[in-house]
Amino acid sequence: MIVIDGKKVAAELKSVIREQTIRRESQGLKQPHLAAVLVGHDGGSETYVASKVKDCEEVGFLSTLIRFDDDVKESELLEAIDKLNNDPSVDGFIVQLPLPRHINENKVLEAIDPSKDVDGFHPVNVGKMVLGLPCFLSATPSGILQLIEYYNIETSGRHCVIIGRSNIVGTPLSILLSRKSKPGNCTVTLCHSNTIGLKELCLQADIIVAALGKPGFLTADMVKEGAAVIDVGTTRVPSTLTKSGFMLRGDVDFDNVAPKCSFISPVPGGVGLMTRLVLLQNTLKAAGNKKK
Ligand code: GUN
Repeated sequence: MIVIDGKKVAAELKSVIREQTIRRESQGLKQPHLAAVLVGHDGGSETYVASKVKDCEEVGFLSTLIRFDDDVKESELLEAIDKLNNDPSVDGFIVQLPLPRHINENKVLEAIDPSKDVDGFHPVNVGKMVLGLPCFLSATPSGILQLIEYYNIETSGRHCVIIGRSNIVGTPLSILLSRKSKPGNCTVTLCHSNTIGLKELCLQADIIVAALGKPGFLTADMVKEGAAVIDVGTTRVPSTLTKSGFMLRGDVDFDNVAPKCSFISPVPGGVGLMTRLVLLQNTLKAAGNKKK
């Protein structure tokens, strides 16, 4: 059984980005600049955005954080997006999700210029992804594909069961893994927590991706010997063991599932770090050949 080391892979790929950023300077190319819009004070979102800003510093990108209170008007948020769309110093930006209930998330995401949509959430980028055209791939699916590639996990002709059909993970990953490509070429079954016969489907799977946000949901009796298991869950649960008072728990009952697996990704230390890395890759791509 091999434990997928997202920390190692992300660190390697991050140093490639750092080198490319240094090279840009001598080539007269613009320093990549990522902006993040954060609404409110949700603990999880604060942590994610702080890590994104820190990642930028570490690879030599510029970063800008734009904050709004929970009660921000939708129109104010749309105005900020319009400014970012038209600011030539900003190559790419994200609006951290979730947004407060009074804000229409789709309307906000659709307001982002697709050429700056480094999250890959805009319908134009999603549509291009479906058609296999060049686009910004959303971070978690892209990070999972890169881990599969790095560890040479065979996908061609294999049955992959994905549990969780979110717009940002399960649904796009089901398309990417079923495409005739490498990695890809899988037969994919896209499930959710209420799928009838979920256990039986999982027992047929060569690859299982758990992305439903229910800690410890995938148990050992659902996993075939030799399967590869990718855990996308990152639920914050209270903990007396950490300074923050929280810890991250994955969707997989790791201790009992791991002994049956060929490969397994842990939480933390698996997919999450790759998600952060892809945002940097996408920002570098957005900066492209823009001159200083
Ligand atoms: N909330 C949870 N994951 C993400 C992400 O990848 N991007 C954004 N914008 N918000 C998120």
